[in-house]
Amino acid sequence: MKRKRKIITVAIDSPAAAGAGTQAKYIAQEYNLAYLDTGKIYRFIGNLRLKKRKNFNYKLVRSKIDKLSEHDLRKKNLLEDSVAISAAIIAKDKKIRKIIKKFQTKYAYNPPQKYYGSVLDGRDITSVIMKRAMFKFYITANIKIRAKRRYLEFRSMKKKITYNEVLKSLKNRDYLDKNRKYSPLKKTKDSILINTSKLSKKACFMKIKSIMDKRLNN
Ligand code: C5P
Repeated sequence: MKRKRKIITVAIDSPAAAGAGTQAKYIAQEYNLAYLDTGKIYRFIGNLRLKKRKNFNYKLVRSKIDKLSEHDLRKKNLLEDSVAISAAIIAKDKKIRKIIKKFQTKYAYNPPQKYYGSVLDGRDITSVIMKRAMFKFYITANIKIRAKRRYLEFRSMKKKITYNEVLKSLKNRDYLDKNRKYSPLKKTKDSILINTSKLSKKACFMKIKSIMDKRLNN
């Protein structure tokens, strides 16, 4: 897809619960960029698979993606762990990825006019969706730290889940996401590695901001 105007493009990949969403939101706010959490699209389709069971098919996925709105992605039930696992299952499917890719590419390179550009986070953003992004980051953290953060999130939402269940689920998703045949999660050579294990959210953002400002001010 051709870029229609000069925009700032930021691509972020990360394993689950590494803090990429938080950083993407900070970046979006700081630089007035449109933000797309691509995991939510996979969760939306993963949820559709759970609801429709035998009636789940490509035609249905295509029609849902054609009509997809940001409102659809804000639904609370998409945060459930069962939906995340279902998302990782449908995410292995090449055809489904292709359908979702169109939506993401359009958003990435033609964000709404009021924004100066876009920031997307997911698993294949630096490697497939935004290969030509101006900035590419790979955000990660130690698995136990990620599990603890996600566990505390679930607890604040009053979800009944133990730390060990969260850890097991994240390990399972890491495995599925890194080992699938199409668009596996990996750090591309041109991505900057940010490890959030020992950094606060703000400290992590200051690191990202200094990298971005250096380039943007040149
Ligand atoms: O980021 P989040 O944890 O919400 O993503 C849910 C699942 O969606 C991931 O575990 C992954 O399997 C899939 N996904 C993907 N590619 C993306 C974003 C998410 O395969 N760009």
